[in-house]
Amino acid sequence: MKVTILGGTGEQGFGLALRLAKNYEVIIGSRRREKAQEAAERIKEILSSKGIPYRNVVGMENREASREGDIVILSIPYQHILSTIGDLKEELKGKVVVSIGVPLASAIGDKPTRVVLPFQGSVAQMVQEYLKDSKVVSAFQNVSAKVLECVEEPVDCDILVCGDDEEAKRIVIEMVESIEGCRGIDCGNLEMSRYVEQITPLLIGLNIRYGVKGSGIRITRLGR
Ligand SMILES: NC(=O)c1ccc[n+]([C@@H]2O[C@H](COP(=O)([O-])OP(=O)(O)OC[C@H]3O[C@@H](n4cnc5c(N)ncnc54)[C@H](OP(=O)(O)O)[C@@H]3O)[C@@H](O)[C@H]2O)c1
Repeated sequence: MKVTILGGTGEQGFGLALRLAKNYEVIIGSRRREKAQEAAERIKEILSSKGIPYRNVVGMENREASREGDIVILSIPYQHILSTIGDLKEELKGKVVVSIGVPLASAIGDKPTRVVLPFQGSVAQMVQEYLKDSKVVSAFQNVSAKVLECVEEPVDCDILVCGDDEEAKRIVIEMVESIEGCRGIDCGNLEMSRYVEQITPLLIGLNIRYGVKGSGIRITRLGR
C-alpha cells in the first residue's frame, strides 16, 4: 500500500514518513515538487545512515501525490487544511484520508495550550464535511514530531483512532501498529475526534511544565 503525506516536508509529516517508510511506500506531497523531492532524499539518507531498511520514498506536488496514494495523511497546519483539500476533492475521492490536525489557538496568535474549535467540532469532522466522498479517519494528534524523528527509539505512545468507516479505521490502525511502540486504539466514530484533538494542548502544557519535548499518552486496562 502507498501512503501519501501531504505536507510531509514539515515536522510531523517528515517524522511520520521516517517511521512509515519501513513498511509502506511513502509519497511526500508538497506545494513544490522540488521541496518534496528534497525531503524524500533526506528521509532515505537518514534511514540508510542508520541502517534501517525502507520501501521506496518519493516526492511529488500535492495533486499528483494525492492521486498516487492509497492512504493520504493531511499533515498541514490547521488554518491551511481547507484551502489545500478544497482543490483536491477529485483526487481524494474514495480514499482513506487521515486527519492528524489539532485546532491549536496558536493558529490565530493565541496560546498553543488552547484550542479554537472549528464549527464542526473537530478538525477531522471539518475535513469529512469538505471531503464527502472520502473516508476520513482521525489519528496521530497526540504523538510529537520530536518523538517521531528519533527513529531508532520506539515511540511509546498510544494512538487514538476515530472514524465512521470501519474498514478505513482498520487500515489506519494497521498502519499505526506498523510503527514500533505505537498501539492503535479504536475510539469509535469520527465525532470522538473532538476529545482526542483536545488532549494535545494538554500535552503541550505538560511539555512546558516538565521541561520535556514529547510527552504522550497510554490508555490502561483495555485487555490488549
Ligand atoms: N508538530 C507536531 O509535533 C504535531 C503533533 C501532532 C499533530 N500535529 C499536526 O500535524 C500537522 C502538521 O504539523 P507540522 O508541525 O508538521 O506543521 P508545519 O511543519 O508548520 O507544516 C507542515 C507543512 O504544511 C505545508 N504548508 C505550510 N503552509 C501552508 C499553506 N499556507 N498552504 C498549504 N500548505 C502549507 C508545508 O508544506 P509545503 O511547503 O511543502 O507545501 C509544511 O511543510 C498539523 O495539522 C498539526 O496540528 C503536529
